[in-house]
Amino acid sequence: MQSRQATAGAVFNNFVNGQWTASSSGKVFENRNPANQDDLIGVFQQSTPADAEDAIGAAERAFASWRLVPAPRRAEMLFRAAQMVAERKEPFARDMTREMGKVLEETRGDVQEAIDMTFFMAGEGRRLYGQTVPSELRDKFAMSVRQPMGVCAVITPWNFPMAIPSWKIIPALVCGNTVVFKPSSLTPLSALNFVKVLEESGVPAGVVNLVTGGADVGTTLATHAAVKVVSFTGSTDVGRLVNQNAAPTFKKVHLEMGGKNIIMVMDDAQLELAVEGCVWGGFGTSGQRCTAASRVVVHERVYDEFLEEFSRRVKALRVGDGAADGVQMGPVISEAQLATVMKYVEIGTQEGATLVAGGHRLGSGSHGRGWFHEPTIFGDVTPSMRIAREEIFGPVVSVMRCRSLSEAIDIGNDVAYGLSASIYTRDINKAFSAMRDMYTGIFYVNAPTIGAEVHLPFGGTKATGNGHREAGSAALDVFSEWKSIYVDFSGRLQRAQIDTQDL
Ligand code: UN1
Repeated sequence: MQSRQATAGAVFNNFVNGQWTASSSGKVFENRNPANQDDLIGVFQQSTPADAEDAIGAAERAFASWRLVPAPRRAEMLFRAAQMVAERKEPFARDMTREMGKVLEETRGDVQEAIDMTFFMAGEGRRLYGQTVPSELRDKFAMSVRQPMGVCAVITPWNFPMAIPSWKIIPALVCGNTVVFKPSSLTPLSALNFVKVLEESGVPAGVVNLVTGGADVGTTLATHAAVKVVSFTGSTDVGRLVNQNAAPTFKKVHLEMGGKNIIMVMDDAQLELAVEGCVWGGFGTSGQRCTAASRVVVHERVYDEFLEEFSRRVKALRVGDGAADGVQMGPVISEAQLATVMKYVEIGTQEGATLVAGGHRLGSGSHGRGWFHEPTIFGDVTPSMRIAREEIFGPVVSVMRCRSLSEAIDIGNDVAYGLSASIYTRDINKAFSAMRDMYTGIFYVNAPTIGAEVHLPFGGTKATGNGHREAGSAALDVFSEWKSIYVDFSGRLQRAQIDTQDL
């Protein structure tokens, strides 16, 4: 690796078995700034399935000794890593804004989330609690312990390029597993920055391996017999494929996929607060969060007032290079993502929704070399429209009307996904009803749908996930499995369920 701060054209390598090495393909791919396509950040290894196999082999060998390192000692390395990321927060945030576009304030938050997760999970090194229970038999001891599983494949998206890898890599390591990490090809530098820190913090060779590249690398990770766990965050389509690829070898698969999250604004809500929440929830990270508030349903009594203020605020958002002062919303990640956003604006218009704000690509002047789109609001949306049902993953919010809380909840639940939802109300009964009845993995009261903290479970229902959760101590369930242990110190044969008479 050249340096932490990339210079144009720098060549970045894979990290396999403790060595920074080039792919056997001899090929590289470019990483360019989505705010300015003339800005080449560097080139990264276009790895092959053989490279992925090498990394899996290294991780498999390293597992033999890493699993026996006492968990508190593993955690010491992770505490050091958290501290080092904290020291490098600013350059890491700047690298991240440069490679994926979100504003500096948000990339600092992304790095902070990785710091928080690493500290939190390192703390698990002195917990990893199991259970001890009384045996039903005399002179017999019963307990359960978490055991590591082996090589974990970590496949991550570009929208949280350091936070999401930390959600997966750090719990995997603290549990005693080893890792092969394939980041999105759109954000390899942030991945590399994180892995470099783990290397410097003393994590032994082979325990964490980084392989950059395309779908064939991911396929190798999801199919290889030596991989025991696959943790994937990304689109529902790719998640389904990962699941299918991993099924024949019975891997544990953790999937975190799409969302179509809703904010419900009741007629007794503090409207200004709700508007502010919808601006942040809908347009933070240019709407490119799984947790983005891409739907808003507003009680008809306050609908007009809400929409007027919401669109006034959104039209005033300053869109530009996320590294520039005063910019509030950056570009979208790529040309393909921009095309998707524009396609959905077209679809919404054809479906009969009213374009209330935005609706166009920004492609001239300072926006000329990037993938910028106006923050966009559709009003008069009905729940059956595609813009109200499909994940767009861009700066487009669909606003609907409702007549009651129960109608809002029905609309809220009537989509394929179930990640996050929120309600703005001053009525505690409404808040608790919605909290109970929204079938999502995350719920907020008087706050937008984004902003999950690292020490509670993160994940969703329905097509958002497959029942697992990351973050919080729930993440340990993905990266370990239970072993129940019975120790009989009676010196005789005792038969459970049979020798029940002898008190
Ligand atoms: C994601 O969009 O994939 O709750 C993750 C949030 C962030 C994480 C989002 N803490 O919005």
